Amino acid sequence: MTDKNENLLEVSGLKKYFEVGKKKTLKAVDDVSFYIRQGETLGVVGESGCGKTTCGRTCIGLYGKTAGQVLYRGEDVHQMKGEKRRKFTKQVQIIFQDPYASLDPKMKVKEIVAEGIRAHALAHSEDEIKKRVEELLVTVGLDASYKSRYVHEFSGGQRQRIGIARALAVEPEFIVCDEPISALDVSIQAQIVNLLEKLQKERGLTYMFIAHDLSMVKHISDRVMVMYLGKIMEITTSKNLYGRPEHPYTRALLSAIPIPDPHVEEKKVRIRMKGEIPSPINPPLGCRFQNRCPYAVEKCRTEEPSLIQMEDEHFVACHRCGEIS
Ligand SMILES: Nc1ncnc2c1ncn2[C@@H]1O[C@H](COP(=O)(O)OP(=O)(O)OP(=O)(O)O)[C@@H](O)[C@H]1O
Ligand SMILES: [Mg+2]
Repeated sequence: MTDKNENLLEVSGLKKYFEVGKKKTLKAVDDVSFYIRQGETLGVVGESGCGKTTCGRTCIGLYGKTAGQVLYRGEDVHQMKGEKRRKFTKQVQIIFQDPYASLDPKMKVKEIVAEGIRAHALAHSEDEIKKRVEELLVTVGLDASYKSRYVHEFSGGQRQRIGIARALAVEPEFIVCDEPISALDVSIQAQIVNLLEKLQKERGLTYMFIAHDLSMVKHISDRVMVMYLGKIMEITTSKNLYGRPEHPYTRALLSAIPIPDPHVEEKKVRIRMKGEIPSPINPPLGCRFQNRCPYAVEKCRTEEPSLIQMEDEHFVACHRCGEIS
């Protein structure tokens, strides 16, 4: 798709299935291919259960894969061993959705943040660790004196900042941000996004930024990947996605975002999805979105559309692509 040297992460034909109950397979991620360039943010969106978290976790080797391949700087993530594996666990970090559940309540902030520094021997003395922890807290907008407190003493937004400090402590290159703002108050969400953007600029970080709603990823993403029932429906630049969305599912997600201007809001063409999201254990035949798609035709019910390139940087999986206005 692009010059291989620019890509930090290259995912091809990745599948992650879970065995659930007798002879039942849940296809959480089902044959996805994409890349993430060094220094960019790839937004990943889709409704709950479409496989965003599973995709992110499988990409960084937290989950084994069922099939396909994930390359990080050209190295197979699922084959890395010994020193290579150790190095990779430092290069790649994850920030979780729930800042309440992801931080150990029995540990002080300084212990949480210092854990990775110790594990990867990134400091030579206790004094240096202390200094690093204080610097990291200040970097994420917290007071250095907070280091001696426990996480229950903080608000959701502050806890997420601690989660970010913990991730930054090992000086990573790539961070999977798994819905880092979804659990926060709307007023705090922008602050955390701004912080992540600032850190990205200063440190040249690469992000996979997962969210369930397109409004959350708009400002931070260079490109956006739209998932539905384990598949990629559309992947393109933010500009294309918000300006010229192709897939009916993308359009439906965009329809759900209110536009602050009442004139625009009134004239907006709304695409309403029918029914509920089907189970990934028994996904619909043909296109996975067909039973909810207002544009589905016979072909959509029988033949699965592949992800095809519409133009440079714009890939869509839809039989009706280009036919609907
Ligand atoms: N460990 C597991 N065992 C069995 N099924 C799983 C497991 N983890 C996830 N799943 C299933 O895989 C599918 C995808 O889940 P995943 O958590 O990746 O979705 P998601 O897009 O991140 O959703 P959300 O927006 O709710 O976080 C879901 O149907 C989920 O129930
Ligand atoms: Mg998730």
